[in-house]
Amino acid sequence: MTANSGKPVLLSGSAPSGILTIGNYIGAVRNWVQMQQDYDCIFILVDLHAITVRQDPKELLQRSYQFIAQYLACGLDPEHHILFAQSHVPGHSQLAWLLNCYTQMGQLSRMTQFKDKAQNAEKANVGLFAYPTLMAADILLYDADLVPVGEDQKQHLELTRDLAQRVNNIYNAEIFKVPEPYIPKVGARIMSLQEPTKKMSKSDKAETNYIALLDEPKRIKRKIMRAVTDSGEEIKWDPEGKPGVANLMSIHSAFSGKSFAEIERAYGGQGYGGFKGDVAELVVESLAPIQKRYHEIIDDKVYLNNVLRDGAERACVRSQPALQRFHDAIGFIPAQLHG
Ligand code: TYM
Repeated sequence: MTANSGKPVLLSGSAPSGILTIGNYIGAVRNWVQMQQDYDCIFILVDLHAITVRQDPKELLQRSYQFIAQYLACGLDPEHHILFAQSHVPGHSQLAWLLNCYTQMGQLSRMTQFKDKAQNAEKANVGLFAYPTLMAADILLYDADLVPVGEDQKQHLELTRDLAQRVNNIYNAEIFKVPEPYIPKVGARIMSLQEPTKKMSKSDKAETNYIALLDEPKRIKRKIMRAVTDSGEEIKWDPEGKPGVANLMSIHSAFSGKSFAEIERAYGGQGYGGFKGDVAELVVESLAPIQKRYHEIIDDKVYLNNVLRDGAERACVRSQPALQRFHDAIGFIPAQLHG
């Protein structure tokens, strides 16, 4: 059903580190759901990426199921598309290794995510350094046409494109498809509620900085009512001068579908209190059906495991041709395996 449906291939992923936030939802998952109509989609729980930071095994396992259940609750359709865990498909690690041999250390040292996460580069693990080549492998294995992500992943996508082009040039053949990024116009970078010049991050230790997809209504309201704004009282789109207000406007817009100009008009002269209350209401209402569905499926491990097994089987098949093309181009002896 999925293979060669004739539709362009959309691929994206998210790491089961921390807690899924409305930043991930608005910047990524929500767009995945909307784009399922027009694309042949591959969604990956990138658990190999998660271990670039030390994880507690029990928590990682639990969180991985929770992520899959949240994706399904958001509306990902595992029957018509492919949803799987990266660690179940060996091609990811295999291609990542090959790509490492085509990537310069200098290129990886310039990745801002590495610079942010590895305060002390000497002590950082090699996986954290090579993270972007694993991400490139995720994408290039499936001949992805389009990769919807938030703005923080743009640099990794540029590297992916660069690697695909480099390999194609070296072997003078179209081994990899060069993917296009898709970064949403609104919500490409949802910011922290308490520090609105930093992105809302699922690995943030301070709970008041983010809204989790599974936060209860009361908690959502409290976090939004306490979100940092400024000493003024005007609802105006000015991300530089009023980052807190701009962030709340982005969240409003993402859930209400209203433009920034419409939001400015609707709240002209009203101050922050009422506006925040409405943003909170919108978030609570938008997340309610997702939370309801999540609670219906999270304890159904048989269902979740079936989805993952089926996804992994199909992903294994789909990942073979690109890997084979690369092996052949490199000059490896073709594997003579039974079955
Ligand atoms: P990750 O797991 O950090 O985030 C998952 C997705 O959510 C987006 N995102 C945001 N969007 C808007 N505002 C925010 N505050 C915000 N925070 C996160 C991210 O841009 C991402 O789209 N390296 C990737 C995962 C990955 C991947 C891939 C993505 C691995 N392989 C292949 C696409 C294709 C990451 O760490 O995302």
